[in-house]
Amino acid sequence: MCGIVGYIGSRQAQSILTGGLRRLEYRGYDSAGIVTLSENGDATLLRAKGKVAELSSLTSKNSKVDGLGIGHTRWATHGAPSELNAHPHQAGDVYIVHNGIIENYKELKEEVSGHEFKSETDTEVLAALINSLYDSDTKLEDAVTQALQLTVGTYGVAVVSTRETGKIVVARQGSPLIIGVGSDEVLVASDASALIGHTTEAIYLNDGELAVCTANNVELRDMASQPISAKVEKIEVDMQAIQKQGYDHFLLKEIMEQPSTLRSTLNGRVIPEQHRAQLGGLNMTTDELRTVEHVVIIGCGTAYYAGLLAAYNLERLVEDLTIEVQVASEFRYRSFHLPKNSVALVVSQSGETADTLACLREIKRRGVKTLGVVNAVGSTIAREVDGGVYVHAGPEISVASTKAFTSQVAAMTIFGLQLAQAKGIGLKELDAYIEELAVLPDEIERILATKNDELKEVAETYATYEHALFLGRDTLFPVALEGALKLKEISYIQAEGYATGELKHGPIALIDDRFFEVMLIQDNWLFDKSLSGLAEVNARGGHVLAITDTQKEVDAETVVRIDTTLDLLAPLVMNVIQQLLAYHIAVIKGNDVDQPRNLAKSVTVE
Ligand code: M6R
Repeated sequence: MCGIVGYIGSRQAQSILTGGLRRLEYRGYDSAGIVTLSENGDATLLRAKGKVAELSSLTSKNSKVDGLGIGHTRWATHGAPSELNAHPHQAGDVYIVHNGIIENYKELKEEVSGHEFKSETDTEVLAALINSLYDSDTKLEDAVTQALQLTVGTYGVAVVSTRETGKIVVARQGSPLIIGVGSDEVLVASDASALIGHTTEAIYLNDGELAVCTANNVELRDMASQPISAKVEKIEVDMQAIQKQGYDHFLLKEIMEQPSTLRSTLNGRVIPEQHRAQLGGLNMTTDELRTVEHVVIIGCGTAYYAGLLAAYNLERLVEDLTIEVQVASEFRYRSFHLPKNSVALVVSQSGETADTLACLREIKRRGVKTLGVVNAVGSTIAREVDGGVYVHAGPEISVASTKAFTSQVAAMTIFGLQLAQAKGIGLKELDAYIEELAVLPDEIERILATKNDELKEVAETYATYEHALFLGRDTLFPVALEGALKLKEISYIQAEGYATGELKHGPIALIDDRFFEVMLIQDNWLFDKSLSGLAEVNARGGHVLAITDTQKEVDAETVVRIDTTLDLLAPLVMNVIQQLLAYHIAVIKGNDVDQPRNLAKSVTVE
């Protein structure tokens, strides 16, 4: 979704801003813009519909040496993608970039007089409001504070003024903002990746905080203008991690790096020699863990599916546990009841998803313990939970989530092990998971090395279909849902996931020559039942692509066999096959694999 960058210092702001915006491209956007100010207050505003490359061609024709500026990538909410709707927005001396949504913008618009609106955005209303409060005796930070006090909604804003060219004012309510502190320069960004390479020191703004940034100083205050002391933290992401490293797409890189990212997830947490697992950071004593009777797992999209899959593992590990898995955008508005002794696992790659964050806050408000299962270090969810586990999958740049899913499932399974240990559950059940987790990275590594070319070929056959059904039983059901999501996101083939047993309850009516069916079949106690489902699809002329770990005969149009020693965690390996399938189909179709149309990496608005 939208991205913010800002710079104040002695270097050329234009190039730092466009470089920062390029780093934020992965978040998904449809237009981009920057404004820079010279010391005497001349503003250069450049905006373009489309990619940051369009904006860069404008900056090369209008190059300025200005050392102050703000920039933005916009993902349209109010008003179509266009140059006029792109940020920064201007009103009088004030320029602003904004992430989030101003809910009362219509009311505010009626109150602001004397400004001729040029865009359809809520952000321009905020610019006009600030400008209306910014008389000659008022400082920019005071006008911004007063305006934000009148505002209902969410925002991360960066504001500059042609009258006060030595400062950037930033504020946050519900949309992340990070201030990078360098030597004699300050950068602001909505995402740490825009700061990498410039500084490793950062101040994470909290909701309700505003900062006045000059090249040498950052002054924090609350919305009542009371000073707050700033905590400077280390940014731990390195430059390598956010580059393609020779791959054609970030997505392929992220699929391929799953063995190593998973090793980071497991490192020091799964100890096979001692038959145990351990998670630091939960902030729960063994006694507290022992009393947990109910786990609610919350997430959106792939994070939700990771929760669905992990729930099977948790309920197998801990008998007296009840588990529910909830889609955050629904759960936040339900009259839900969480029993005593509940724990909430809040799952999010970005740690910024608005619906997931809203659930977290509501659950916390009710006094229930919240644990994060988060990838992005320092993100809002990671900061607001009572405890939790970083999944350590490293930056995930491609919009479609792949390596985060694998690491989220692994991290939640380790949580299940920890819970089981605390409850004194026998070693035998635990050991099976511990042993499989320990070898999972090697198994995925082997499958990636041997199966990529095969999937490339298989993709040629199925790229021409208009629709797909993904079917699986038991732990392969959530994997089927995730497979369908991945395919639809990046290939734009309409795809649905179903439990194989549900076929006869409706989806079987869909089968015709426009469809292909991905059937996930594991050689376990449900094998024969899965084969019955396959027979039913075949009998109706289906085009089945079976992904299976059996070496027995499987009667399908195409069979992709994986050779694995895994049983409990084999679904994670099958999911890797689905990731490769979706990737190669999207490439064949010539789609923008890393930034699929209409999607955003981090969904920070409802
Ligand atoms: O950052 P989060 O894990 O909270 O994001 C949740 C979903 O928006 C995300 O998984 C989305 O569904 C992906 N595009 C899936 O590939």
